Amino acid sequence: MMTINMTLAHALTVSAFLLVPAAINAATSSELRTGALKVLAPIPDKMPGAENDTPARVKLGRDLFFEKKLSANNTQSCNSCHAVDQNRGGVDNEPTSPGAFGKRGGRNSPTVLNAGFHIAQFWDGRAKTLEDQAKGPVLNPGEMAMPSEAAVIEKLKAEKKYVGAFKKAFPSESDPLTYDNFAKAVGAFERTLRTHDRFDDFLKGDDKALTAAELKGLDTFLSIGCTTCHTGPLLGGNDYKKLGILNAYENTSDKGRIEVTKEDYDEFVFKVPSLRNIALTAPYFHDGSQKTLEETVQKMAWLQLGKRLSAEETSDLTAFLRALSDKKRAVVAAK
Ligand code: HEC
Ligand code: HEC
Repeated sequence: MMTINMTLAHALTVSAFLLVPAAINAATSSELRTGALKVLAPIPDKMPGAENDTPARVKLGRDLFFEKKLSANNTQSCNSCHAVDQNRGGVDNEPTSPGAFGKRGGRNSPTVLNAGFHIAQFWDGRAKTLEDQAKGPVLNPGEMAMPSEAAVIEKLKAEKKYVGAFKKAFPSESDPLTYDNFAKAVGAFERTLRTHDRFDDFLKGDDKALTAAELKGLDTFLSIGCTTCHTGPLLGGNDYKKLGILNAYENTSDKGRIEVTKEDYDEFVFKVPSLRNIALTAPYFHDGSQKTLEETVQKMAWLQLGKRLSAEETSDLTAFLRALSDKKRAVVAAK
């Protein structure tokens, strides 16, 4: 990594001096790309399982995702905490989320964008699939607070449009309007929430996709150790790690994955979050404690790598991370 780092630093100095950045960056870009592709990758074209999702199922899932009647007092839909409309980042940008009756839960809402690529769902990975996950919030008293599966089905059956839409989405079933099928449809919709950003373009060979500052940030990201954990196409989402490996994290109220596995070694262990669309999803961490990307990155380096980042490293890293926003959603991040 050192060679790449020095080559890049050299290239940047020379290019600034000679005012021919394009030519010199091209060589550096391809070296960086080779390094990056050892641990990172472009986002795949399809999410696992999407091949079985029919348009009718996706359409129903979308309607259900936005359906406020899925909450006890008709005030809240999935989209309330995971806003995907208006090119938003699949979150509510709150530290923790108020439920249908206003009471806040203990964890920050992670984005639903690309979630179907994760090894499992939730900060602690307690739901194996999108379908398992979708069944939770509707009945959670702190979220949508419906009293029972039967009550949900009764409410949906009262809507003519859902009776027809479930039939279309599950044509071979005699009683298609079930809680399982509700979850299947929502999962089908979520599998369409795949993003595409300039880093994907860069990895696929476009030398002009990233700016010099973003490339320098990528170099730092690769050489400093972030990719010990943030790897793969999502730069995360594929492993569990302790928060506070080299320096302890001060908020110890959430014990993380130990609650799921009951294994001591899982205390303070969380799913490594994806860094795709990270500029859209502030505030950060499972408890929503970090307000800006800058403080989050500095905190990460200190807790996980025992390193105090310089101002330059911080701005390079955040420049790179800001290039990971879905192209059509990136306009929101710029505001
Ligand atoms: C009141 C706010 C709220 C509502 C409503 C809500 N969620 Fe969530 N969602 C959260 C929070 C908070 C978490 C993280 C909880 C945890 O990890 O323990 C989460 C986690 C998730 C995840 C996991 C993402 C990941 O990276 O692990 C998915 C997927 C998801 N929600 C989808 C949905 C769907 C689908 C609905 C509607 C059926 C929904 N949510 C309704 C707040 C909400
Ligand atoms: C040893 C593993 C590890 C290393 C190394 C690591 N991270 Fe993380 N990162 C995590 C985990 C685990 C979390 C989730 C923290 C939590 O539970 O609140 C996280 C969270 C984050 C978040 C916030 C994500 C969100 O959605 O809230 C960002 C941004 C981040 N890391 C960036 C970086 C950067 C940049 C580096 C390199 C300086 C880095 N990380 C190094 C494991 C790691």
